Amino acid sequence: MLVNAKDMLTKAKAGKYAVGQFNINNLEWTRAVLETAEELRSPVILGVSAGAGKYMTGFKTVAAMVDAMVDSLGITVPVALHLDHGTYEDCYKCIEAGFSSIMFDGSHYPIEENIAKTKELVAVCAEKNMSLEAEVGSIGGEEDGVIGAGECADPAECKMIADLGVTMLAAGIGNIHGVYPENWAGLSFETLDGIQQQTGDMPLVLHGGTGIPADMIKKAISLGVSKINVNTECQLSFAAAVREYIEAGKDLQGKGFDPRKLLAPGTAAIKATVKEKMELFGSVGKA
Ligand code: 13P
Repeated sequence: MLVNAKDMLTKAKAGKYAVGQFNINNLEWTRAVLETAEELRSPVILGVSAGAGKYMTGFKTVAAMVDAMVDSLGITVPVALHLDHGTYEDCYKCIEAGFSSIMFDGSHYPIEENIAKTKELVAVCAEKNMSLEAEVGSIGGEEDGVIGAGECADPAECKMIADLGVTMLAAGIGNIHGVYPENWAGLSFETLDGIQQQTGDMPLVLHGGTGIPADMIKKAISLGVSKINVNTECQLSFAAAVREYIEAGKDLQGKGFDPRKLLAPGTAAIKATVKEKMELFGSVGKA
């Protein structure tokens, strides 16, 4: 069964660790993340971007697949199915499709409009027992064609949104989606500290988890980050493993062209990346 992410994140914040959100793209991805979470007894959040939802033919397909897979694989750890960077319209599509959690990314609206729309969604999610993530201060880099500048959020604005009753809050602290550029200035711990002081117990979300050095991840967790999103790193591991298989000519040997064989190294590579992240985030054994 899919769960609201509130409970796992409240425990993570109190226990000073973070739950990983791993974005999924297809059946192999979903399976790799779910099996790793079960093996490591870790709670997990499956993230679905609008682009990934479209690729999998729609949010309904995704919800049906994930729900059935949790059952077929006998997954017993808490799993939340979460819309990543949702538009206002997509939030409603996911509520209807059976997601257990959504992110409304109103960071590009003026703060008043972000507040009004977030407030409305807080009420809807409460009624449906779903968790809601809000965002203040856009996160840099490119995701699904949307390019953000990587701002640092204003702690006072974070408090305004947190006070609306959202479950978790994503705030820009100099983090960027995708691979970090050579000249990246690093996370702004001063901003994070200010946000945590203003928002208290609110679980904070760190987007752009790919490529953030381990010491920065640990420091961010110590300053209130309880959910960390990882997407690109699994894509890179998957691509490298499939490339190696093909470059070794294995698809040309016997039935090596069978997609179940050809994609297997990629699936194993995603599992290894997810394991590494769960160990770093401290969520192993917390389910
Ligand atoms: P990365 O692709 O940089 O890991 O970011 C993932 C993310 O933040 C999804 O919302």
